[in-house]
Parts: sequence; structure tokens; C-alpha cells
Amino acid sequence: MTTTNLSVNINKIALIRNARGSNFPNLIAIAQDCERFGAQGITVHPRPDERHVRFDDLQPLKDIVTTEFNIEGYPSSHFIDSVLAIKPHQVTLVPDEPNAITSDHGWDTIKHLQYLTDIVKEFKSNGIRVSLFLDPLEQLVESSAKIGVDRIEFYTGPYAKNYPANKEKAIEKYRNAAFFAKEIGLGINAGHDLNLDNLRYLKQEIPHLAEVSIGHALIVDALYLGLENTIQMYLRELDVV
Ligand code: PXP
Repeated sequence: MTTTNLSVNINKIALIRNARGSNFPNLIAIAQDCERFGAQGITVHPRPDERHVRFDDLQPLKDIVTTEFNIEGYPSSHFIDSVLAIKPHQVTLVPDEPNAITSDHGWDTIKHLQYLTDIVKEFKSNGIRVSLFLDPLEQLVESSAKIGVDRIEFYTGPYAKNYPANKEKAIEKYRNAAFFAKEIGLGINAGHDLNLDNLRYLKQEIPHLAEVSIGHALIVDALYLGLENTIQMYLRELDVV
């Protein structure tokens, strides 16, 4: 079975730091601790208003992350220039509106085929792995392969929403799209609203999942359970520990 890496999204830590204008909690120290506690990657999502992670956090994070550094975001020219300068291991492109509260849909890879092809080429020629945030539809997966990405990240918001009522139905589209992606050689990441309830079943149904990035629920769980314990609990759901 493929190991599914847990990348911890530390945007919410930056949100707490920014609330007071000082450097507390220290984002760098927390990223290092997440790795020490077992996270196999660190994810950040700088948004245009920089309400969570800021663009000037990116280089200091790149300097200390020893696992995998994943930067997600909308490919504005500022974002593209920053990512090209920093060269993280992976960039995940997300079609966010500038003032989106959170990401709530994937790319239309058919409509934006040429636009995305050009951007992806630039990242890849700089040695950065590229993933596209995507809804689980075969046509979108197929055009992602034409665009030349290495991976797709399934937007798992609808999976998480529908999981409590009917998990078999909730997973169906994702499983089909994931196996189609595998057939055509794309790696699969997943993220959004994943938590300690719905993570194991996702992994069970998509065993070749390469990475999950988890922020909101994991940080909330850490308030009750502690960060080290929480990360270990998520890793256990993925059968890593
Ligand atoms: N993937 C993408 C593209 C996201 O925008 C987010 C939220 O920032 C996540 C994954 C993680 O979602 P959550 O915070 O709900 O775990």
C-alpha cells in the first residue's frame, strides 16, 4: 500500500499570530514541531490579504522545513513570482476568488487548459512539482493530464459534508476519479474538511493517495488533545504509525 503523507496546513497558526501583531505563536517553531511530531509535510496557503500566512513567511519556512514544503494558492503574478523565487517541493494551484473565506471548488481544467498549461510549464521547468485543486470528475482529471501536472488534489469538502449521512455515496465519485487518475499516471493528493472521522475511510477507498493536507480540524483538535498527540492520531488513521 502507498504511504499517504500527512502535510499539516499551518495557516490557522498564522491567523492566531496575526491577531496580536507580534510573533506569538512562532510559526517557524510550530512548523518544526509539526515535523518533530511526525508530519511528513508543511502546507501554507498565502491569500492576497495575508490574513493567515504572509508572503514574507515563505522563505523562512522553506529554510527550515526538512520534509516537504507545499505552497497552495491562486496563481496571481505575485504568487507565481514568490513561488518561483522560493522553490518549494510542491505548488498546489487553487482557483480562489481574492476574498474567498476558504477554497470551495476546483479548477475548470477544460476551460483554462491553455492558461494552466503555461503556468504549470514554468513551475515544472524550475523543478517544482505541480498539483491542481480539482473536483472529482474524469473529464477534469483527463484535461489535468493534458496540462502536464504531476498531481491533482481532490477538493474533499463535499466528501466530508456527505460522509456522515452515507459514506459509500460520499466516496463514489472520488474513488472513480482517483482510479482513473492512477490509470493515466497522475498522483493524487486530497484536502479540505478532512478530520479524524472521515480520514481513514478516504484512505481505505483510495489506497494510492499520496498526500493529504489538513489544517482546520487538526488545529482545532490540537486545542483539546495537544499538537503532538493530534498529529500522531491523524497518522494512525493513515496507518503511518
Ligand atoms: N487544500 C486546499 C487547496 C485548501 O485551500 C485548504 C484550506 O486552506 C486545505 C486543503 C485544507 O483544508 P482544511 O483546513 O479544511 O483542512
